[in-house]
Amino acid sequence: MTEIKVAVIPGDGIGKEVCKEAIRVLNRVSELDGRMSFTFTEFPWGCQYYLETGEMMPKDGIETLKAYDAILLGAVGYPGVPDHISLRDLLLRIRHDFDEYVNLRPVKLLKGAYCPLKDTPREDIDMIFVRENSEGEYAGSGAWLYPDSEQEVVIQNGVFSRKGCERVIRYAYELARKEKKTLTSVSKGNALNYSMVFWDKIFKEVGEEYPDVETHTLLVDAASMFMVKDPKRLQVVVTSNLFGDILTDLGAAISGGMGLAAGANLNPERKFPSMFEPIHGSAPDIAGKGIANPLATIWAASQLLDFFGYEDWGAKIIACIEKMLTEKISLTPDQGGTASTEECGKALTALLG
Ligand code: NAD
Ligand code: IPM
Ligand code: MN
Repeated sequence: MTEIKVAVIPGDGIGKEVCKEAIRVLNRVSELDGRMSFTFTEFPWGCQYYLETGEMMPKDGIETLKAYDAILLGAVGYPGVPDHISLRDLLLRIRHDFDEYVNLRPVKLLKGAYCPLKDTPREDIDMIFVRENSEGEYAGSGAWLYPDSEQEVVIQNGVFSRKGCERVIRYAYELARKEKKTLTSVSKGNALNYSMVFWDKIFKEVGEEYPDVETHTLLVDAASMFMVKDPKRLQVVVTSNLFGDILTDLGAAISGGMGLAAGANLNPERKFPSMFEPIHGSAPDIAGKGIANPLATIWAASQLLDFFGYEDWGAKIIACIEKMLTEKISLTPDQGGTASTEECGKALTALLG
């Protein structure tokens, strides 16, 4: 029996509510399967912790997490703590320090999920975003000069290293090859004359090793337009940290909403734990009401199962989500239902068998 040690950081707002349901699902999978067992260790880190201690996590937090095989994260950020502190000191810190350089975000319109695009066949929305997740516009490099004076200047650097670009682009080529899909690189070389020209060059260079993969390149503005007007043009997509962040919220909007959007922060070499999370935030507007949709976090749990080699269970979870959506079983209000977070999570667990 393989033991998978999961560190759980429920975080803030609805993060706490949705994590519980993903844990319920993973425990049921291990009961039914018998090949693996999960242990869950919860860490109370987040904005409340910050207000009590002055830190988002303890100084040795990263060291502590190294002992785990994976991290399940709810959401981070809440009114009362500035976002640039809460996110940089916890979520972004983990992505960076654990070299989780691939952020894998499916944008797939599941059967039964609502799509606001008129006349778009369901199967046209089936993308997988490979978002660079360790540097780029999120590198945190810059300066704030002469604050509160007339000369005030801020500088936010984008950091694009050869190693950083090559490895994520190579990951995307491998994925496209494996899945027999086209690969689209999304960049913005017409305006960002250093970073994105460099990105495009590396995309071409790495591509020489993959003559069998059909490639396309799109400027990010055009890519966002095509995601709405002709989404089938995009299959595997590789892009920078910031562009990937923005485009995957657009992706969520065309594939059932934030309650159905998941992401895996992967360290493909498995030197450090990978982290699985919904892409939504703490949703202060609905936090504490018990109505948050847990399916995005449950989808992230299915990505966890895929990552550890249990793709059969990963696929089974997605099939159960589709069944709930098509038969309108225990859906939360964002999906037009009246179920609570817990009822939704329990219904999915029951469908597993
Ligand atoms: P949000 O994703 O929290 O909420 C946006 C909207 O989507 C809200 O109306 C919310 O009710 C709805 N929504 C989100 N998830 C839902 C779910 N599971 N079920 C039903 N409805 C859902 O984005 P925001 O309001 O811009 O951010 C709130 C806080 O979360 C901020 O502090 C932000 O920085 C942070 N944030 C964190 C993460 C993360 O931890 N990965 C991601 C995004 C935002
Ligand atoms: C996401 C979030 C984060 C990001 C924020 C909260 C820093 O929006 O995971 O998409 O921009 O990566
Ligand atoms: Mn985002």
